[in-house]
Amino acid sequence: MLGPGDLWYKSAAIYAINVDTFRDADGDGVGDFSGLTSRVDYLHALGVTCVWLLPFYPSPNRDNRYDVADYYGVDPRLGTLGDFVDFLRVARERGIRVMIDLVVNHTSDQHPWFQAARADRASRYRDYYVWADEPPPNAREGMVFPGVEESTWSYDDVAGAWYFHRFYRFQPDLNLANPAVREEIRKIMGFWLELGVSGFRLDAAPFLIERKGVSAAVVEARRPHTFFRYMRSFLSWRRGDAALLAEANVLPDEVEDYVGSGDKLQLLFNFYANQHLFLSLATGRAAPLVEALGALPALPPSAQWANFLRNHDELDLGRLTDDDRGACYDAFAPDVDMRLYGRGVRRRLAPMLGNDRARLELAHSLMLALPGTPVLRYGDEIGMGDDLSLPEREGVRTPMQWTRGPNGGFSTAPPERLVRPMVTGEYGPDAVNVADQQRDPGSLLNWLQRALGVRHGCPEIGWGSGRAIAVDVPSVVAIRCDWRTRHAAVVPTPVGEIGAPDGPSAVITLHNLAPEPCTVCLAASDVGPGEVTELLTDRDYGRAPDLRGEVALGPYGYRWFRIATGDDRSTGPGR
Ligand code: NOJ
Repeated sequence: MLGPGDLWYKSAAIYAINVDTFRDADGDGVGDFSGLTSRVDYLHALGVTCVWLLPFYPSPNRDNRYDVADYYGVDPRLGTLGDFVDFLRVARERGIRVMIDLVVNHTSDQHPWFQAARADRASRYRDYYVWADEPPPNAREGMVFPGVEESTWSYDDVAGAWYFHRFYRFQPDLNLANPAVREEIRKIMGFWLELGVSGFRLDAAPFLIERKGVSAAVVEARRPHTFFRYMRSFLSWRRGDAALLAEANVLPDEVEDYVGSGDKLQLLFNFYANQHLFLSLATGRAAPLVEALGALPALPPSAQWANFLRNHDELDLGRLTDDDRGACYDAFAPDVDMRLYGRGVRRRLAPMLGNDRARLELAHSLMLALPGTPVLRYGDEIGMGDDLSLPEREGVRTPMQWTRGPNGGFSTAPPERLVRPMVTGEYGPDAVNVADQQRDPGSLLNWLQRALGVRHGCPEIGWGSGRAIAVDVPSVVAIRCDWRTRHAAVVPTPVGEIGAPDGPSAVITLHNLAPEPCTVCLAASDVGPGEVTELLTDRDYGRAPDLRGEVALGPYGYRWFRIATGDDRSTGPGR
C-alpha cells in the first residue's frame, strides 16, 4: 500500500529560494550556497520539507539565471559544486529535500552549443536550435514578454539566419525534436539526480510541447505527447522517488497533457486556482475560486497540485477575462507601473494586501487549505515588500531580511555592492525581519510556522480528495477534503499524525473573504456524521461548534475543522 513516505511530495511544504538573494556568507554582496546552508535550520523550524532552488547555473544572468550557459555547474558567484553538495547533505540531515530548476526549453545565447551552432552551419550543434531563413508570418504572436520583446524570431548575423525564442532574444529555444537534444537533457537530469536532488521544477513546460509559433513540422517532430513520458520514465529509472514539477499556466482541459494517466509529470503548479484565488481576494466573493476548483479535473492518484500565492515572476492573471483582470488591477495594482506584460502584477503579497495582517493570514490559510501541496516563496513568511524602481520582475527579488540594519543581515558587503538593493521604508529590514519576528510570539512568521504545523498534521488535504462545498454566504470559501474513504484511489498507511483518527476523516475549512463578520450554515449532507475538532482559527471563537448548525466567522476569519467520519460511511463525499 502506498504511504506518505512513498509519494513524499504529497506531504511536502515546498519553499522557493533564489540563492543569490538569500544569504551572503562570503561578504561579496551576492548570496551563496554557504549562506544558504547556514539557514537550513531556519527552514527546518519553519516547517519546510523541500527547497526549490531557482537556477544557480553559470549564466550571463540576464533573466535571473534562466539563461543557462552551463548545465553542469554552479555560478562561481554563488559558490562551487562542492558548496552545492554540502548544502544538499545538510538539508538531507534535516529531512529537507531539494528540487532544482530544469531550464531546457532554451539556453543562453552564450551557451557553447549556441555559439557553435551560429558559427558553423555544419556544426552538429546547429540543429540543437530552431532556425529559419525567413521569420514566419506569425512571428509577432505568442511572445511571453510582450512590451519587452516584439517577436519570437530574431536574426543572428553570425549564423546568417533567424532563430526562434519564446522568451527573450538572448534565450534561443532548443530544438527538442532533435534526439541529440533529448539525450543532452537526459544527461543533465542524470547528473543532478546522481548528486542527490529529489527532482526538478520544469521551467516553461508548455513550450516543451507547444503547438504555436513554430512550423507544423517542428511541432510534429517534437512529439509533444511522448516527451513528458520520456522524462518521467527516465527519472523513475534513475531515482524512483524523484518528482517533476511543471511550470504550466494551463486551462483545465489541458491538464491531462501534463499528468497523463499518472505516467507524466507528478506535480503541476495550480496557476488556474491561483488566479481565481486572487480574483476572489480582490472582490471578496468566493465564487471565482469555488468555480475554478470545480472546473479542475481530478488528478491521477500519484499526481498533485502545487498551490502558491506569489512566485518569483509577475502574478500572472492571463487566464482571467479583461474585466476580472481589471478588478484585480484595481485592488492590487492601482498604478500602471505595478502591472507587467499586459497580464500581471509585479508586486509581492504583503504590499498587494496593504500589509494587513488579517488578510495575509487569510490568504496563506486559504492557500494551505487548497487540495495539493503548498509552495511558499522566500520572504513571504515575514511579509517582505518589493522595490518597484527595479525593472520588470526584479522588484520581487530583493535580498532576504534576516535582521534590522542597513543590509538586513543579508550581507556584510557595502550596500552599493549588494546583488540588489534592500527594500527600504515600511517594508525595510528595520520593520520586517526574521530575528524580530522569531522573538515575537504574535508575528506573521510564528503564525505561519504554526499554520504549517497544523497543515502537516492534515493528510486529508495533501492526500485526500477535495472539493468546494456550497455555503449560504457569498464571501465564504468552504472546502472539504476526505481521506481514507472506502473508495479512495490511494489509501496510505497511517503515519501517526497527532490527533488524526485512524479511520476515514475529513477536514472542512472555512474562509471569509469579506471585512465583515458572518455566520454560515453548512448543509447537513456536506458535514455528515462524526466527531468535530477545531484545528486552526484566526481568533478565539469559544467552543468548537457542531458543524451541522451555524458557524461564526470574523472579518477575514478562517476556521479549520476535522471530522472523524468513522468507518460507517459507504461513500466518501469527495469526488
Ligand atoms: C519561466 C520563469 O518562471 C521565468 O522567470 C523565466 O523568465 C522564463 N521561464 C524563461 O526561462
